[in-house]
Amino acid sequence: MSPLTQTASIPSLSALSSAEIGEALRDYASGKRAGVIMPRLAPALSESDIASLSVYFGRAEAESAMQDEAP
Ligand code: HEM
Repeated sequence: MSPLTQTASIPSLSALSSAEIGEALRDYASGKRAGVIMPRLAPALSESDIASLSVYFGRAEAESAMQDEAP
């Protein structure tokens, strides 16, 4: 675990798909999903914000597949 990019208490988004991130943000916003930090941030996001964040931070399937195949 790199100390620069990960901590024990803030989860890494790198393994999550866009759909998983979008679902988590919507669930934090609605109160369906519990947390310490995200339930305070997520209600401020519009549906368009959530869509953009999910695409930007979501795991890029094609890209990681290509990296897996690299020598
Ligand atoms: C671009 C902004 C952000 C996005 C898209 C985002 C997204 C997410 C997602 C998808 C999860 C669920 C992860 C999982 O289930 O494995 C999560 C959890 C979490 N995130 Fe964020 N996050 C953002 C900003 C932040 C910031 C700025 C902080 C801290 C200052 C933070 C702290 C946390 C923590 C502590 C959790 C665990 C649940 C909780 O206690 O609320 N996040 N986040």
